[in-house]
Amino acid sequence: MSSLELRGITVRYGRFTAVENVDLLVPEGTVTGLVGGSGSGKSTLGRAVVGLAPTQSGRVLVDGTEVARRRGRSPVQLVFQNSYASLDPRMTVGASVAEALSGGAPGRRAPARERRAARDAEVARYLELVGIDPARGARTPDALSGGQRQRVALARALAARPAVLIADEITSALDVSVQGAVLNLLRRLQRELGFAMLFISHNLAVVRYLCDQVAVMDGGQLVERGPTGRVLEHPEHPVTRDLISCVPDLALAEEAS
Ligand SMILES: Nc1ncnc2c1ncn2[C@@H]1O[C@H](COP(=O)(O)OP(=O)(O)OP(=O)(O)O)[C@@H](O)[C@H]1O
Ligand SMILES: [Mg+2]
Repeated sequence: MSSLELRGITVRYGRFTAVENVDLLVPEGTVTGLVGGSGSGKSTLGRAVVGLAPTQSGRVLVDGTEVARRRGRSPVQLVFQNSYASLDPRMTVGASVAEALSGGAPGRRAPARERRAARDAEVARYLELVGIDPARGARTPDALSGGQRQRVALARALAARPAVLIADEITSALDVSVQGAVLNLLRRLQRELGFAMLFISHNLAVVRYLCDQVAVMDGGQLVERGPTGRVLEHPEHPVTRDLISCVPDLALAEEAS
């Protein structure tokens, strides 16, 4: 089980501050939902965690150790809304997953044939984990449906054995029917594998289903955070109340409580 801690993250694009001095703890093996209006800085914060945004200051700690000081592969993986952005269109999806695999046996000295067989078995294992027939590994991303591609993007992220997964609107481009399946899968894998997750979403119903804590962003700052039940049922900040009032079912649940 792993934890993620952000300390004083500030991101600037030129003179514009997109994220300002954000502190956030995602406790071991739990899921924090990151919500907020469009342009509030959610994606920028997610990207800052993996070094894809121009971070002015701040520290990212995984299990108490600063990420930049760790050696080897990043312990944090990011999955985007657009699965095309996570997968190389020219590579077969099997090759994309293989590229992310985090080493392991057999070692470099083993014969090439043996190494290839072990790698293929690992790729098949990750594709099966996300419910994709390993035979589809030979296809390129454009030969898969959106839901299948998003599953492959998830398999690729998981193949890197992340301590932390950042999921940025990963189901918003999908059909509602497929969204449920991908979210169920994500919840099951998160519980089984025990990674910490920052789940960025506009959908408060999904956040309620998936997240232990909720953090609310506005204008680049975190304005409210707490256990999901408390934040959604007894919001303290006007921005949180606004977000909730836009979701009829949640607003009703709040009135009833
Ligand atoms: N590469 C960039 N260059 C300049 N400004 C940027 C860049 N990326 C994001 N911004 C700005 O930073 C702010 C936060 O953007 P961000 O994408 O993080 O918002 P968001 O909360 O993810 O929004 P959404 O819910 O629409 O995805 C916005 O004002 C955006 O215009
Ligand atoms: Mg975004």
